[in-house]
Amino acid sequence: MILNLLTNAFFAVNEKKRQNPENYNPTVAISTRKTGNQVEIRVNDNGNGIPQSAIDKIFQPFFTTKPTGQGTGLGLSLSYDIVTKGHGGQLKVEKHDTNGTTFIIEIPIQSL
Ligand SMILES: Nc1ncnc2c1ncn2[C@@H]1O[C@H](COP(=O)(O)OP(=O)(O)OP(=O)(O)O)[C@@H](O)[C@H]1O
Ligand SMILES: [Mg+2]
Repeated sequence: MILNLLTNAFFAVNEKKRQNPENYNPTVAISTRKTGNQVEIRVNDNGNGIPQSAIDKIFQPFFTTKPTGQGTGLGLSLSYDIVTKGHGGQLKVEKHDTNGTTFIIEIPIQSL
């Protein structure tokens, strides 16, 4: 589940590096912290970001912008179901501009 977020992040930074081989340091970072009765996991990348036009669709099954054969578009929709239905948590995208993307998972501790 977190692996899909990381795979997405690595894909995004890889793409950006391909387009822009100099002056760009691909970075993917994951962090965790406890906030009250929740754990929060953040996955941040400095890839190309998600366009505003796609942001409402990324959690829908089969939405993908990847070339045919490279993405099913199921990663985020499955992750969303696991976090929300499986753990009663939330999956949000926070930053999604051209400087990159941050996904935030929040899970109530008592459901772990
Ligand atoms: N970190 C990210 N940076 C930029 N775009 C992203 C990122 N994560 C997701 N996206 C966008 O959201 C779309 C849906 O992501 P999702 O993980 O559901 O499917 P996918 O990665 O395309 O395919 P799959 O995960 O099934 O192999 C991606 O195709 C991409 O356009
Ligand atoms: Mg994916």
